[in-house]
Amino acid sequence: MNKNVTIFDHPLITHKISILRDENTGSKQFRELIEEIAMLMGFEAMRDLPLEDVKVKTPITETTVKMLAGKKLAIVPILRAGLGMVNGILALVPYAKVGHIGLYRDEETLEPQEYYCKLPEDIDQRLVLVLDPMLATGGSAVAAINFLKQRGCNNIKFMSIIAAPEGVEKLSNAYPDIPIYCGCLDEKLNENGYIVPGLGDAGDRIFGTK
Ligand code: PRP
Ligand code: URA
Repeated sequence: MNKNVTIFDHPLITHKISILRDENTGSKQFRELIEEIAMLMGFEAMRDLPLEDVKVKTPITETTVKMLAGKKLAIVPILRAGLGMVNGILALVPYAKVGHIGLYRDEETLEPQEYYCKLPEDIDQRLVLVLDPMLATGGSAVAAINFLKQRGCNNIKFMSIIAAPEGVEKLSNAYPDIPIYCGCLDEKLNENGYIVPGLGDAGDRIFGTK
């Protein structure tokens, strides 16, 4: 496994993902859990944010403290399902800008099809967190990161809640330097490109469309 791949083994994340997997979990709870898991994962994914010295006056004395350095952040969910993770990350970094990349997988070829892209103007100067709960074949993640690279981004991290080994391999081969964070690593893809055991179609479960 590429050293840039982090698979979480935290019991809180594992427990919440187990509830997501249950087909009886409804959309309301599913959305809440996706958001919570994104926040827990984001906490770790942002562990290396740079700090700088800032002077403050406490009620007792003047002192120098550490605060996040001017480094700017952007969150880019892959539509639709990535939207479910946005608020969890914004809870941690409320001033982050949010871009959107719209992709859907062609059901026959499994190739990602683009239908929307709107990014902050200065995205190339930001640390970009790309969000998608599912990393299956990896086609959508690679396509999204290709867009970002074309826009000059060179500081990108990718976060997914459930990943298939095939997707991790494809993404880390395409972009070995991009850190990949996965809530868990599942067994495989099935013949329709769904993650096994997975949780089904994340977009449909978040938005209740099936
Ligand atoms: C799902 C998921 C990812 C993609 C992963 O999106 O949210 O974007 O599939 O598959 P891949 O790794 O094989 O590309 P989907 O195409 O179902 O669109 P949706 O989010 O609008 O439902
Ligand atoms: N997209 C999903 O939403 N689920 C999968 O299992 C694979 C791709």
